[in-house]
Amino acid sequence: MTNLALGTNEIEFWNGVAADRWVTHQAELDARIAVYGRAAIDALRPVAGERVLDVGCGCGDTVLTLAERVGAAGRVVGLDVSRRMLERARERARGATHVDLALEDAAVYRPSEPFDAICSRFGVMFFAKPVAAFANLRSTLRPGGRMAFVCWRAIAENPWAAVPLGAALSVVPPPPPAPEGAPGPFAFADEARVRAVLGEAGFADVTVTPFDAPMLLGETLEAALRYASEMGPAARLMSDLSPADSARVMAALEAALAPHGPRVALTGAVWVVSARRPD
Ligand SMILES: C[S@@+](CC[C@H](N)C(=O)[O-])C[C@H]1O[C@@H](n2cnc3c(N)ncnc32)[C@H](O)[C@@H]1O
Repeated sequence: MTNLALGTNEIEFWNGVAADRWVTHQAELDARIAVYGRAAIDALRPVAGERVLDVGCGCGDTVLTLAERVGAAGRVVGLDVSRRMLERARERARGATHVDLALEDAAVYRPSEPFDAICSRFGVMFFAKPVAAFANLRSTLRPGGRMAFVCWRAIAENPWAAVPLGAALSVVPPPPPAPEGAPGPFAFADEARVRAVLGEAGFADVTVTPFDAPMLLGETLEAALRYASEMGPAARLMSDLSPADSARVMAALEAALAPHGPRVALTGAVWVVSARRPD
């Protein structure tokens, strides 16, 4: 990997337990969050022949959709810091000659040619220095180039995360509070912060639009429990628990999710953010 400016913990996380789960459950996860990615791509409106950058492309789902939209005359470059997730993306994009996948930190990545557009599905909330990272992303666009991404709103507005988290917190103590806006899935929950970061990074015409859609945790209560204990904020709390505490959290999760079942789908609430590099 070249140009790495991420914290070691973040890289370890996206190459360790997070990669295991994203790669193992790739098809299921893609189905779960496809609707939010489509919202970002619809806001971006990529057209045939464009060069598009996908930031934090993970296992490549949105890369493939973008590649269809821009066609063989266009190009899609997917960046990620997770070697294993990129490997999966490469397997899925095999044969697509207009797709490049690169192990790079988007905060400092320099393309050989500017992009017409930047897209991201939940891949831009992990920068240690978001203003500098977005200023770098702006510099990868041609003048007038566009950006659209989706990021989670507050946990309280996201029952898919809040319900399991509340259950876990009924058993285990809360973690020490993270500083406001610390890198993580909910770092851009505050609309004012999103606008401030993008404005300071030199983007213009910033729009921040709420979008809600049900997120399927599981077709059965058992599947939803497995999901909630492996991914999301409750799962992060469970990573270092004793077997006895784990069992208590699982019981609390079951009690919290059962009333929503047997097919458990809870609202996911995102911002669809779009912006433009000034001419
Ligand atoms: C929540 S996952 C989303 C993955 C993918 N966009 C999707 O929707 O399936 C966040 C992704 O961002 C990547 N990521 C985090 N920080 C990054 C950075 N600075 N540069 C490139 N990728 C990054 C992670 O490795 C991970 O794959």
